[in-house]
Amino acid sequence: MNIDFYERIWMWAAGVIIAVFIAVIGLSTVAYGLHPPSHVETIEPSKVFTDPRFSKLGQPVELPDGTIEVQMAALMFSFAPNEVRVPAGRRVRFRLTSADVTHGFMISGTNANTMLVPGYISQFTTVFTRPGDYLIVCHEFCGNGHHIMSGRLIVEDAK
Ligand code: CUA
Repeated sequence: MNIDFYERIWMWAAGVIIAVFIAVIGLSTVAYGLHPPSHVETIEPSKVFTDPRFSKLGQPVELPDGTIEVQMAALMFSFAPNEVRVPAGRRVRFRLTSADVTHGFMISGTNANTMLVPGYISQFTTVFTRPGDYLIVCHEFCGNGHHIMSGRLIVEDAK
């Protein structure tokens, strides 16, 4: 088969570009430990409410480094607890999971946004700079009551 010289160059160029992209994805996955959201920590969904890692539902705990840890569970069709209070300007670590199906967790007006997949613990840390009343919504369709599944986050002025 006769392939034009310039055609040949561009075929090789396209091949090299694809190989470079795949190498970048592969190397960065290993180098930065990329994986699904949060660190992959598992939990038995039916035992969420007796698991010691979720024994402080609704009671924010201050960790030794000053971070406030908030544990919450999602279940059709509410969050446990439905209302959480945290101080403004502090690091807040959310530890979240689902006791039944896949739910979403988004705090409107902030960068807090994750999925709650049964069997896994989602964790992220953020800082709320503005005191106020924030709406927590489930943004993954989880059943007939999905549209009423919400909670409240109250960010208090730390003073
Ligand atoms: Cu829970 Cu939608």
